[in-house]
Amino acid sequence: MKKTVADIDVQGKRVLLRVDFNVPLDPDDGHVLDDTRIRAALPTIEYLRERGARLILCSHLGRPKGVDDSLRLAPVARRLGELLGSPVKTIGDCVGPQVKEAAQALGPGDVLLLENLRFHPEEEANDPDFARALASLADVYVNDAFGTAHRAHASTAGVAAYLPAVAGFLMEKELTFLGKALASPDRPFAAVIGGAKISTKMGVLENLLAKVDRLLIGGGMACTFLKAEGLEVGQSLVEEAYVETARQIRERASQRGVMLLLSSDVIVGDRFEADARRQQVSVKEIPAGWQIMDIGEKTVEAFVQALRDCKTVLWNGPMGVIEFEAFSQGSYRLAEAIAALDATTIVGGGETVAVVERLGLEGKFSHVSTGGGAALEFLEGRELPGVAALADKA
Ligand code: 3PG
Repeated sequence: MKKTVADIDVQGKRVLLRVDFNVPLDPDDGHVLDDTRIRAALPTIEYLRERGARLILCSHLGRPKGVDDSLRLAPVARRLGELLGSPVKTIGDCVGPQVKEAAQALGPGDVLLLENLRFHPEEEANDPDFARALASLADVYVNDAFGTAHRAHASTAGVAAYLPAVAGFLMEKELTFLGKALASPDRPFAAVIGGAKISTKMGVLENLLAKVDRLLIGGGMACTFLKAEGLEVGQSLVEEAYVETARQIRERASQRGVMLLLSSDVIVGDRFEADARRQQVSVKEIPAGWQIMDIGEKTVEAFVQALRDCKTVLWNGPMGVIEFEAFSQGSYRLAEAIAALDATTIVGGGETVAVVERLGLEGKFSHVSTGGGAALEFLEGRELPGVAALADKA
């Protein structure tokens, strides 16, 4: 367990708060298209402001190589100001004498959002001088950027060497939900794993196999599993190099007594397009020249049935091609079914969260993770540098 802002004295202090405001901006007018990550940081920001702390917020945005005007944080500051109901100051840089002056000038409850950390290559290099320069702005460091906790950067890891370092409430919530699912889940515990490629989910599958009671596999990656069963999958995306791995996962699941479910029927399309012709077929009858693009109705029924009595459900990765509405139905049906369960329900990964948000179901899940890559690495059982750097509870 990590110390949080609630465990230390923040009254009137200067707080360097690392947030993950890496949010999509409108390419035309630059406004924030999805403010989920900004709203997720509000509990920590509001808690600190109520205690008269002077807030120095910092974040990266995108992956700039040097200064890039399209990746400035001013639009994010505007959106945060709207949500807080009070203005958020910005400044053209994140270190240096002017920034220091601006940090010094903050009054109780004031909020300053520093410029994009990645305008300085020293951020990603975890440069100690850069970390020290960030630390020199504040008395305390709080990390609420779970989404970036898998990066060992100056603002996520290095800075913790120079200031008392604790977690914010979002970081705490992420670690609590994801941590409990891995360490001591209420059972039965099911993981629903999808997404395009098995290669990106290998670590997650391996780690979860040792923890879950049921493993439901959909999405593009299921094609490799179906191929491993000896089925013909037409033009579907198969990662040939992982066919043997898929077979081994199947075998290990059966040795461990884990129920592993794959599709029994699928929606296939005649090409990878939104308006492709589609048909529902058994996985044993996939027509040559067609490709799997969603799970079928029987599979949805079987998955829903397998989840019905579960007490913990973790969902990562869509069941079909959610870029195309016609191939999103399997993911929608599953989202609705999981949301309705009387269980701890956790959803993680950018695309999966997008499905849940499209349906307006965010509030129906126990926890919607703000982490994409970070959530995956956590579920792989890896220690995240941004978490390791924070002080432990006594
Ligand atoms: C994310 O969006 O996953 C985080 O903000 C991390 O961004 P990065 O992959 O560019 O480090």
